[in-house]
Amino acid sequence: PSLSRLYHERVVDHYNNPRNVGSFDKNDPTVGTGLVGAPACGDVMKLQIKVDEDSGKIVDACFKTFGCGSAIASSSVVTEWVKGKQMEEVVSIKNTEIAKHLSLPPVKLHCSMLAEDAIKAAVKDYHAKRAKGASSGADIL
Ligand code: FES
Ligand code: FES
Repeated sequence: PSLSRLYHERVVDHYNNPRNVGSFDKNDPTVGTGLVGAPACGDVMKLQIKVDEDSGKIVDACFKTFGCGSAIASSSVVTEWVKGKQMEEVVSIKNTEIAKHLSLPPVKLHCSMLAEDAIKAAVKDYHAKRAKGASSGADIL
């Protein structure tokens, strides 16, 4: 069977033309990095956000995924969705929404789970870095 019969055209599209592949400097204080792995298959996803510090808005996002086509498509979709949104909004993105958007079959649900976990981890990392920055600032005083 052809790829397009097994997978929804959106998966094939995001797999062939992934949006926002790349890396930001993880030491940049405006960047949050989420690195997650899927125990089920050993695949790894890195998703990064760049945040406007004043508004808390995500101004840019990128990813690198070493994984299956569904994982690549899921990360690509999520980087598209989060741009221009507030951090509080994106932590409520559910893997089921991603899976539905891409019409992923049930065996591929864990691939979309990676993207949900990765965006949450990226936001958490951003906040953790900010908290650290604040305390080291206090140390100077
Ligand atoms: Fe790409 Fe919907 S098809 S985000
Ligand atoms: Fe592991 Fe898709 S099969 S992320």
